Amino acid sequence: MSAVVVENLVKVFNGVTVLRGVSFRVDRGERVGYLGPNGAGKTTTIRILLGLIKPTSGRVEVLGHDIVKDPRGVRGRLGYVRQGHSFELGLTVEQSLELYGYLWGLDRAEARRRARELLELFGLESVRKLYVSQLSLGTRRLVQVIRELLHDPEVLFLDEPTTGLDPVARRKVIDYIAEWSRRRSATVFLSTHIPQDIERLCSRIILIHRGRIRADMDVEKFREAFGGLTKVVAKLAKDPGPGFAKRVREEVGNSIRVLRVSGPRVEVFAKRRDVARVVECIAIEARRQGIELRDLRIEEPTLEDALVRAYLGEGDEAAEVG
Ligand SMILES: Nc1ncnc2c1ncn2[C@@H]1O[C@H](COP(=O)(O)OP(=O)(O)O)[C@@H](O)[C@H]1O
Ligand SMILES: [Mg+2]
Repeated sequence: MSAVVVENLVKVFNGVTVLRGVSFRVDRGERVGYLGPNGAGKTTTIRILLGLIKPTSGRVEVLGHDIVKDPRGVRGRLGYVRQGHSFELGLTVEQSLELYGYLWGLDRAEARRRARELLELFGLESVRKLYVSQLSLGTRRLVQVIRELLHDPEVLFLDEPTTGLDPVARRKVIDYIAEWSRRRSATVFLSTHIPQDIERLCSRIILIHRGRIRADMDVEKFREAFGGLTKVVAKLAKDPGPGFAKRVREEVGNSIRVLRVSGPRVEVFAKRRDVARVVECIAIEARRQGIELRDLRIEEPTLEDALVRAYLGEGDEAAEVG
């Protein structure tokens, strides 16, 4: 059964269409990254999925439940870590968690037991008695995540949970969520701009751009499809002279997008499927000229490269994977 089903979702705010027919499905136990430039409609989508706002039109099911007809029906089985949410600074961590346990309908003993269990899982036993105001931003964010896990949700929605955190805190937040979701086989729907968050937590990317789904695929496939060209860098023992570039280009064909020779350094940008041929041609041409090939490096596009290109609306034509 699907955890989330969205079909033809449309949202209009004061005459401005923010979501223009969005459709996707998320399976139970899947961990999905929901990406898109600022203003793309990520928070709006998440708030609709949680039944906090009504869509203008479209079908929305969460855990098999019609959210448009009955927005509150499954709220108790969902967790939601809000974007840039404020904290109860005047409470201790333990008090804050017990308060949330109460809001989730747990009795006091149960809330306390769950809070301790999760603080332990997140490596936070030592801050139990501290005031939230005394915690670093990263630890506060962890406490905020724990609050949304007290009732053991089946689907956890996270809206840019690592924005503003240092890399160590960011990694901690993401890794603990990954650990929790693996243990519980829970579904995670994560909105973020941070490529490392996706790489550590998600297996799939859904990318929204100008209110439409622009990509929905495996993380690895996305990187290949949107990342652009692969760079091959060769270092020769000496400058191969002006004819080198021309001959490599003749050998490989016109698929090479950029070929730069500056001194003994040769750089080629090529489609992934042509990389082996490029390497071969550089080696052959260097040997023909009697120049030693000293170093060779292949730089695949990163996930960040792919995100930038997808956010800018650049296509996946450069990759032609497969
Ligand atoms: N309550 C609202 N009233 C009017 N416009 C809104 C409201 N909420 C969001 N928007 C607009 O909808 C668009 C998408 O916003 P949002 O879903 O917050 O984007 P994202 O989370 O992807 O950055 C933005 O242009 C935003 O200004
Ligand atoms: Mg947002």
